[in-house]
Amino acid sequence: MKSTDIPMDKSQGVLTTGNGNPVAKNQTSQTAGPRGPILLQDFHLIDKLAHFDRERIPERVVHAKGAGAHGYFEVTKDITHLTCAKFLNKVGKRTPIFTRFSTVGGELGSADTARDPRGFAVKFYTEEGNWDMVGNNTPVFFVRDPIKFPDFIHTQKRDPRTHLKNPDMQWDFWSYVPEALHQVMILFSNRGTPDGYRHMHGFSSHTLKLVSEDGSFHYVKWHFRTNQGIKNLSADRAAELEGSDPDYATRDLFEAIERGDYPSWTAYIQVMTEEEALNYKYNVFDVTKVVSQKDFPLQEVGRIVLNRNPENYFAEVDQASFTTSHMVPGIAPSEDRMLQGRLFSYPDTHRHRLGANYLQLQINRPLAPVLNQQRDGPMTLTDNGGRLPNYEPNSFGGPHESHGVRELDLQSKVEGTVARHSFELTDADFEQPRALYNLLSASEQQDLVVNIAGNIAKAKLFFQHRIMPHLKRIDGDFGSRVEAILRQTNPEY
Ligand code: HEM
Repeated sequence: MKSTDIPMDKSQGVLTTGNGNPVAKNQTSQTAGPRGPILLQDFHLIDKLAHFDRERIPERVVHAKGAGAHGYFEVTKDITHLTCAKFLNKVGKRTPIFTRFSTVGGELGSADTARDPRGFAVKFYTEEGNWDMVGNNTPVFFVRDPIKFPDFIHTQKRDPRTHLKNPDMQWDFWSYVPEALHQVMILFSNRGTPDGYRHMHGFSSHTLKLVSEDGSFHYVKWHFRTNQGIKNLSADRAAELEGSDPDYATRDLFEAIERGDYPSWTAYIQVMTEEEALNYKYNVFDVTKVVSQKDFPLQEVGRIVLNRNPENYFAEVDQASFTTSHMVPGIAPSEDRMLQGRLFSYPDTHRHRLGANYLQLQINRPLAPVLNQQRDGPMTLTDNGGRLPNYEPNSFGGPHESHGVRELDLQSKVEGTVARHSFELTDADFEQPRALYNLLSASEQQDLVVNIAGNIAKAKLFFQHRIMPHLKRIDGDFGSRVEAILRQTNPEY
């Protein structure tokens, strides 16, 4: 239902000011005489304008454009041997969720069909507090150290001088950071333009941990596979929709749920023991790499179903704040340094975007009780702890730490010297992009080659020349085919 579909009912109550005074006139300001100036005493007018002036909060610095929906997660397979997370402790158990899908680089009003990864964020309102699974529709990412993230994102945004998108910036950066090319190939394949949000998979991308009651743990990667089937848009169709229906994916999700065609995804995990993970042929903490499903097959866990549209976009979708550091007992972070960077960055940006009390907003508030000594701050929405002591330990009452609660995720062994240990670029960085290229059908390869060459051709020749050896190192055929198009486009290549 759209807001304009609400049945006409004029008896829904008398209009009031923000402080609850009934409003007699909402069409005319108070003036001194019929042609005179407006009076400062017209609180209704002034409050209305002042509130309007403050309607915009900072948009997300990335993933600004998105759509969301409510639903549930249901356990379909028993994994209690892997985790003590209570929401996973019984087949058939359901947990309410809120999911937000998004594009990455564009602003709040940008087109849904842009060539971009898609965000895939799920908030699980469990009985032990919220778990946020903040993933993408791709199993890998462009960079593997958070210190590179702001620079990378700047290359995807607007040129600081012209305010235009600038292919020089992205190919300049990628030619210096070729570990990004695995994700770049996914981006320029047809998966870079999914047909709406319902027809794509979701991935944790990072390795996480599942932890058992006795403190033992396994490394896992989460996969959410669409039950609607993968569907992508051709580059031409995506470009056409950017103009004719820029909110294509938002509309598609909303309308499907409205007509009762509830989208669902089956949740799987790849499971590795500590030993298997540490001895794997690739570094499982390097988010530019996948872990082969042949080596570690998908194991089903449950499914998510989206069956309710938000009532109010701003309150529920825009104010939703997903945070990789929101984890429940039984789920823990791994040593993946990108993930470690994200554990800091998300709550930090939420405090900036929504304020210190962002977790008190209805969409972010856990269903589980929140009891602590945090107090005050702008826009406190709860009873603020009432008369209970605002410190702990104390001799009076209120919530207190409990030694019965085990911190399950503090058992990792770490060793070594403190230094800026860098990932060296090796042949291994080119193996998975090569495997990806060879996995594509002939027509998918052709689309990838045409899409990527079309974009490289927009960058200066200097950058075209610098990226080419990396593309050839991935695969000679791939590089040569891209180069042939670049030559055709520009005889000076
Ligand atoms: C959103 C930072 C990597 C998925 C965001 C936001 C920030 C951010 C600041 C805006 C959040 C908000 O305002 O609500 C970072 C940093 C990264 C990183 C510092 C690397 C160090 C990743 C990766 C993924 C990812 C690897 C996927 C695997 C998302 C998603 C959102 C998001 C899905 C949107 C969440 C929503 O719908 O509200 N990121 N990000 N990010 N990021 Fe990242």
